[in-house]
This record gives sequence, C-alpha cells and structure tokens, in this order.
Amino acid sequence: MTIKECVLLALCAIVNCVNGLPANTYRTEKGLICYLCPPGKFFVRDCSLDYETAICSPCPNGYYIAISSVAERCQPCSSVCPNTNYESPDDQPEIITVNCTSATDIQCECKPGFWRESGFNGMCRRAKLCEEGRGVKALATGNSDTVCEHCEPGQTFSNMSSANEKCRPCTQCDALMYVGRVCLPNRDTECILHSTIITTKTTTSLNKHGAQKTLHLGIGLGFGTLFFAGIVIVGVWCRVRRKRKHAYRSSSKDQLSSSKRTHSSESDLDSTSKDDGFNENLSKTSALRESDHCISGPSGDRGILKKEKDNTLSQCMMDIYRDKMLSVGAIVRSNEVVGTGFRVGKQCIVTALHVVMEIIDPRKCGEHNFSKLKKASIVFSDNPFDPSARHYNFSAESFYFYEDLDVAILEIPHPDGMLPKKLTLRKEPVDLVDTVSLIGYGHPGNSNKHFENSCQILYSNSHEINCAHTVFRKNIDKFRTGLLRGYDSSMVERGYQGHDSPHLILMHCFMEHGASGSPILACVNPSEGIVEVVGVLTRGFPEFYFCLDKRHKYYLPDNCRFEAGPRMTSIYERMTSQSNEIMADLFG
Ligand SMILES: *[C@@H]1O[C@H](CO)[C@@H](O)[C@H](O)[C@H]1NC(C)=O
Ligand SMILES: *[C@@H]1O[C@H](CO)[C@@H](O)[C@H](O)[C@H]1NC(C)=O
Repeated sequence: MTIKECVLLALCAIVNCVNGLPANTYRTEKGLICYLCPPGKFFVRDCSLDYETAICSPCPNGYYIAISSVAERCQPCSSVCPNTNYESPDDQPEIITVNCTSATDIQCECKPGFWRESGFNGMCRRAKLCEEGRGVKALATGNSDTVCEHCEPGQTFSNMSSANEKCRPCTQCDALMYVGRVCLPNRDTECILHSTIITTKTTTSLNKHGAQKTLHLGIGLGFGTLFFAGIVIVGVWCRVRRKRKHAYRSSSKDQLSSSKRTHSSESDLDSTSKDDGFNENLSKTSALRESDHCISGPSGDRGILKKEKDNTLSQCMMDIYRDKMLSVGAIVRSNEVVGTGFRVGKQCIVTALHVVMEIIDPRKCGEHNFSKLKKASIVFSDNPFDPSARHYNFSAESFYFYEDLDVAILEIPHPDGMLPKKLTLRKEPVDLVDTVSLIGYGHPGNSNKHFENSCQILYSNSHEINCAHTVFRKNIDKFRTGLLRGYDSSMVERGYQGHDSPHLILMHCFMEHGASGSPILACVNPSEGIVEVVGVLTRGFPEFYFCLDKRHKYYLPDNCRFEAGPRMTSIYERMTSQSNEIMADLFG
C-alpha cells in the first residue's frame, strides 16, 4: 500500500467515501485526487496537488450548474416553467418565483387559484370553486385544493361561486329598516326601509336589455298600524262620542227581543250631522224598529236591517255585475283560499295587504319572504278548487304595499290572453250613492264566488253604529270572557275604534273569511250602467268578532257588525307619487 492509499483509507474512515473516494472528489488521469467544481462553476482543468479543488470558472449569465461536477459547460437557464401553455402566454398556471442563478435554474410555483397535484412534476390544477351557499374555508395552496364549507343559515352567506370568497356575515338591518328577506346561506339579508314608499326602478339596466318591466316596491308607513288601526284613532273616537246628544240603551232583562229604548242622560245624538238624513227618517218611522236593532243578547233576529234594505236589480244591471264578477278571483295558497283579488291595469291584482302577509309571513314572525308570492296564485273561476281552472302566479319582485290602508297591488308576470277584463278604479269621489256591492269568496258556508248586492253605506254617527255601540258596551264583559285562547283582550277594548277613519267606507253586509280584498263596487252612473271600484274590502268591525267562541258570538248580532275597507280615492292619493305610466295603467 502506498502512502497515498493509506491516507485515503484514513480519510475515508472519517468522511463518507463513494467508490473509495471522499465525497465531491474525483481521481484524475494522473492519479491525483481533486475536489469537483462547486455548483455555479464549470471545469477548466484538474488540480495540480492532491485534495485541491479543480480549476473552475463561473457560469456566464443565463447559464447554471446545479451540482458539484467536472462539467465543462454550464446549462442554459430555462426560460419558461415546466407546465407552460405555449398557446396562451397570458394564462399560465405557473409563474417564475425565483430567477435563474449560476447555481440554480428558475423556480416555479402554481399561481394563486391553482394548486399542484402531488407526485413528481405534478401539474398545476385550477382551484375548485365553492358554490353559492358555501364559502372557502382554506384557499388552494401547495399540494391541496380549495376546502369549502357550508355557510351557517342566518349567520353567514356566500352569493357567488368562488375559489377565494369566504362565507360573509349576514347584514343586520338597523332599527329603521325591517327584514325584507331573511339571510340564507346563498344570499344576504334584504333590509327594506320602514318608512315611506320606496320605488326601485331598474330603468337603466333593464331597459338596456329590452326588458320593459319596471320594478316597484312600495311599502306603506309603519307595518302593523293597519291591523291595529284602532289604536291610532282613539283621539278621534273620543271626540265623536262627546258630540253625541242622544243614544240608545237597551235593557238586558229581556234578552230575546223586546229591549226598550230609553234616553241616556250622558250621551246624545247629534241630529244636525250631515249624514243623518237617512237616520232621521228612520227614527221617526218607528221606535219599535230601533229597539229591534239594538238587540242586547242572544237573538234570532239576525240581519233584519239587511232585509229592509234589499234592492232589486234590473236585467241590465245583472248583466253588468255578472261581467264584473268574471274579473274577481280567489287568492289561493297551497289549496287554501286566503283572500279575494281583482284584476286591474295591464297585469295587476288588487287585494288586501294582510292577505299578502298571510302568504309571505304565515306564522307572523316578521319574516317577509317575498319569494313565497310565486307559490300563491289567483284563480278566477267560480269554484276556486276547480281542477281545470287556470292559475296565475304573482311576481315576487314587483308589487305595491300600502300598509296604512291595508292594500296591496301584485303583478302577474306572465299574463295571457285569458286574463279577465280589468275593473275600472274610481279615483274621484262618488256622490249620491248609498249602497255598494261586493264580489268575493268566503261567504259564510260557501267557498264559491259570491255577489253581495246592495250593502248599505254607513256613517260613523249613524243610528246603526250607535246601536252597535250600545250592544258592545252592554256586553263587553261577555266578549272578554268569550275571546278564544291566544287573543289579547285589548282587541275587545278596541271595539269599534277606527271605524270613523276618513279613509274607510263602512258598510252593512255579510262577507266572511276569504272575502278580504273584494272590490267594493258602486253604480256611479245608473242611467248608463257604469259600475266602478270605489274601495277594497279589508276588514270587519268589530275586529274581535271572529275571535269569539261560538256561544259568545250571539251577543253580537249581525246588525252590529260592519264591513269596511279603504276608499279608492284614498288609495289613489297614496299612489300619486308613482310614475305617470303606472298611474295611467291602474287608474287611466
Ligand atoms: C427576474 O429577473 C427579471 C429581469 O431581471 C426581473 O424583472 C424579475 O423581477 C426577476 N424575478 C424575480 C422573481 O426575482
Ligand atoms: C352579493 O351580496 C352582496 C351583499 O348583499 C351584494 O352587494 C352583491 O350584489 C351580491 N352579489 C350577487 C352576485 O348577487
């Protein structure tokens, strides 16, 4: 063994040797052991002494050597990443993250929105999108694709398909607004201003695309006032009471029929009132009739007044009303009639707002899910459950709500040639009309469409109303007792409050559940047989009647119950801020 071999052996005992030589060394042809050129340098010639580094020279720009070697040439740097798409230079999945140096080639990574599949030289793959309703939990990175998660109903939402959008927190409507649509995983809360009418017209964007439709969203003042309109009117009511000079009180001794008329010292009837022409005559004609009207207890005499006032109709008027009847439909939600509506304008339906609320917020939780409107429909057939009848659905985007008047105007998005004729809305006041007619569903005991002819119009200081008050005050304890479970007794206390609102037509007729939204029709020109809509039936007085148990209902005879609804003149006034186009369509 030569000395050299001996040294080598000793060295290899200390450092790792490959093929009997220490790492990064090589044996020259002459038998010398030289160190390889380090990365970044190319080989020029062997070393001249054992264990020296070979003579090397740095790679020129644009060239590199990544390992220790005796390579005589550097390699050209790569100009592009391995997965380059040569056809689309702007749409590369990978980008150079480290430039070439003499010792390293370019380094590439998948650009944001891509991830590298595992394995040697894995391709860059486009990151998966999280669909609407799901958000990004972890962005795609390194060797892992996007991780999605479901947004939390009512808490977070994501309304786009995206590889980087997380679930966002739902908007909380502030106190001035109310929730128009609740937050769902795929869409944010929709807050609607709780004040005057909002009209959202998408004129620019929609018209540009040829769509003619304008979206309008009208919300009347203060949700809730209407259903309890009485509260607001307390002050007015007290004033009316003080003005009265006579009133009628009935005896509770004989509950069947013969209650007596007596004068009451503290309350009187104002006989000079302008509405009293009719009542004056009536009170002259018979005291007996008055006492009959003021029935104070369980009674068989239901509807006396109505019989007295029944009218007859000529063939001509019959034909006219029959024609109007075709334009009135039942508003149906999952096989249940929730109200009545009638066709107006090009493709609109007028009904009571509380009928609409029954559809969009059936459990009365303040959740206003307008998309439910699409599931409700109007059917114009006599029998709303006729399987062959045509149903028209409502638009969930286009409607007007007037909460203070309890009126809603809905739109039929896809009308067809079969839609019945529109009814004419009367925007001017009508004089000299003392009866009106109603067409609606929900007549007691029959779900078909009904015509209620000649309902007497009542005035707040009329004899009938005074009678009703007398009966009400006398039996108020019974009404409190008879209120069905779940109803607030304040309902009874309110009694007839609100009946004297100037916006209401008060009338004497007998429509029940399902009739809300019926047109109140008047013959505004008898000689020409012109019948127009002068109001919309929305409620009955007293409100608590339908919340009484059967037994206690008898303490409130039919002649103490009145139907009411906003006058068309009031609806017209409320709508004047709408565009000329809409006004002409509805009232033109
Ligand atoms: C690589 O070099 C080019 C040209 O000198 C320079 O514009 C670019 O920013 C460099 N890239 C990186 C990742 O350093
Ligand atoms: C997603 O919701 C936000 C917040 O409500 C809204 O501004 C945006 O227009 C919505 N985007 C889409 C595509 O619906």
